[in-house]
Amino acid sequence: MASPSDPHAMPFPPARPEVEGLQAYSAPLEGRRGLLRLDFNENTVGPSPKVVAAIRAIPADHYAIYPEYDGLREAVVAALQGEAARLAGAAGAPAALQPEQIGLFNGVDAAIHALFHAYGAPGDRLLTTAPTFGYYAPCARMQGMAIEAIPYRLPDFAFPLEEVRSALLGPGGDGRPTSTWTPPRILLLCNPNNPTGTRLAAGRILELAAAAPHTLVVVDELYEAFTGDSVLPPLMNRPAGEASATDPFAALPNLLVLRSLAKTAGLAGLRIGFAIGPAAVVDRISRVTGPYDINSFAVTAAQAALEDQAYVDGYVAEVLRARDWLLGQLRAAGVRHHTEGGNYLLIWPQAEAVAVEARLRQAGILVRSMAGKPLIDGSLRVSLGTREQMGRFWAAYAAIEALSAPAG
Ligand SMILES: Cc1ncc(COP(=O)(O)O)c(C=O)c1O
Repeated sequence: MASPSDPHAMPFPPARPEVEGLQAYSAPLEGRRGLLRLDFNENTVGPSPKVVAAIRAIPADHYAIYPEYDGLREAVVAALQGEAARLAGAAGAPAALQPEQIGLFNGVDAAIHALFHAYGAPGDRLLTTAPTFGYYAPCARMQGMAIEAIPYRLPDFAFPLEEVRSALLGPGGDGRPTSTWTPPRILLLCNPNNPTGTRLAAGRILELAAAAPHTLVVVDELYEAFTGDSVLPPLMNRPAGEASATDPFAALPNLLVLRSLAKTAGLAGLRIGFAIGPAAVVDRISRVTGPYDINSFAVTAAQAALEDQAYVDGYVAEVLRARDWLLGQLRAAGVRHHTEGGNYLLIWPQAEAVAVEARLRQAGILVRSMAGKPLIDGSLRVSLGTREQMGRFWAAYAAIEALSAPAG
């Protein structure tokens, strides 16, 4: 008989059948402080000093007040306008995003949860890729959705564009429901993809979204700062005269973009993320979240982080420099690896990945074994930090794998 404290015992009354069939999504997040954390693709040095100062300046009596969100959507709009304008150069001013097109969430995880809650009904289909970020599938399952996950193409994890296109558009090729075929309810693309780094050009994503008006097309751009592949600047920098030159989402009412301050700006612990899309979609997703899901510290931190783009740019540049250096070491040592976009890469150790992961942990370095994941079983995902941190990682890895002469 199950013990009264067994959390897996069937409760009475039972939860929804979809929930009874789920396992809690848990990640190995304990005991990480003080170690070199290359296991969750976080910023490895912390946020801008301006963020720290802004949090310290919050008067204690403000802790007692429910959070206020005024100005945060506008700050996100300003940051995105700035990004699009930098890319447009002399070509003119980008189309304005409106504050109603910005959804605020307790991390992008909460945005993902909410969008499935708002859009996914039992029997609906999620179309995505494999392997990809691990939280999409449980969110689909908790809604009772079916999952179609199309594998990346070996040997270099290329995006399976033709396969995704035909699964999205169906036998008629137009994405319209027929008596025998129903379009996927949600297409979720992680770009660049975590963990393979696979990049898909923004233009391809916009074409897919335009061709599939019955499907909510969600682009998880958590790592776009490392590639610059976002769909937002091309949407915002439309030639004057096009309908979408005034509203970036006018032609794509089924597109939603996810952005976070967790990875580049260093706010993972504060939990703040954004869903950017047509006001009607943002409104539906916001309907299924609580009124104060984002706390006051996250709001203050986000505002300060959004105002200090130079800090994020500097961090991204350092990570890319560290990546180039590490790639040089991997190549010279003949280690099988794969990297494309994002602040992470895959490495295939000669010894068993879980054993190497454990030995690195003993050396004070955390990485993530990809054991059990389709196509990348046997690899380690290593997050990229500063040049100095990658030097520490490489020295430890080379020693464990008995590789010749690591250059520190
Ligand atoms: C692809 C992807 N999406 C979303 C998230 C969650 O982001 P957040 O910390 O903003 O909830 C992660 C975090 O690892 C991720 O890799």
